[in-house]
Amino acid sequence: MDVKIVEHPLAAARLTAMRDERSDSPRFRAALHELTMMLVYEATRGVAVTEYGIRTPVAAATGYRLGNPPVLVPVLRAGLGMADAAQAMIPDASMGFVGLARDEETHEPYAYMESLPDDLAGRHVIVLDPMVATGGSLLRCCEMIAARGCTDIDLVSVLCAPDGIAKLESSGIAMRMTTAAVDPELNDKAYIVPGLGDAGDRQFGAY
Ligand code: PRP
Ligand code: URA
Repeated sequence: MDVKIVEHPLAAARLTAMRDERSDSPRFRAALHELTMMLVYEATRGVAVTEYGIRTPVAAATGYRLGNPPVLVPVLRAGLGMADAAQAMIPDASMGFVGLARDEETHEPYAYMESLPDDLAGRHVIVLDPMVATGGSLLRCCEMIAARGCTDIDLVSVLCAPDGIAKLESSGIAMRMTTAAVDPELNDKAYIVPGLGDAGDRQFGAY
């Protein structure tokens, strides 16, 4: 799997705000929103464009638009905080939704929502989830997407662990990853270390 780590001072500052335990939910959500814009910008650097003619107030010029606007797929809950930012960057994108939650004991994901276009053949899908820990949740999401015929999957995540990347790589499903950092390890609760804690709780509050 191609893993692109976005190393940029502005991205590092947002990631720091997300890691900092003193950041409250509004600060955490704002940093996630801004960082998502940067990650989506990098993830889409190579997408195909279609040229078309426009006129400036001065002369004829060439215009560009996305050749194949993607389907954005935020993974609920935590990926919801990336959805608006990604759609702001790609206004022509459509959006599907997948709901996954990890079992606290087994760390296995269970799916409670799958709202995706029936046919994803020929579509470009960008999956949004801030955290890749064991990789189980994103793998389940990619299996749902691949089962609908998609062969062009981008993953956009804030933080990954090596275990999660290895699991995705060994799945045999073609995908690319864009992330702000790969942290060294998981703890015994399968949280990323040093990580940023529970990305869903930090955005929306624990309940
Ligand atoms: C988090 C995160 C990922 C998953 C990562 O979601 O948003 O979906 O954990 O862990 P994994 O790589 O080990 O599967 P969580 O299950 O906590 O649900 P939430 O988004 O509703 O908080
Ligand atoms: N999910 C999170 O929100 N954080 C982690 O560190 C691991 C899984």
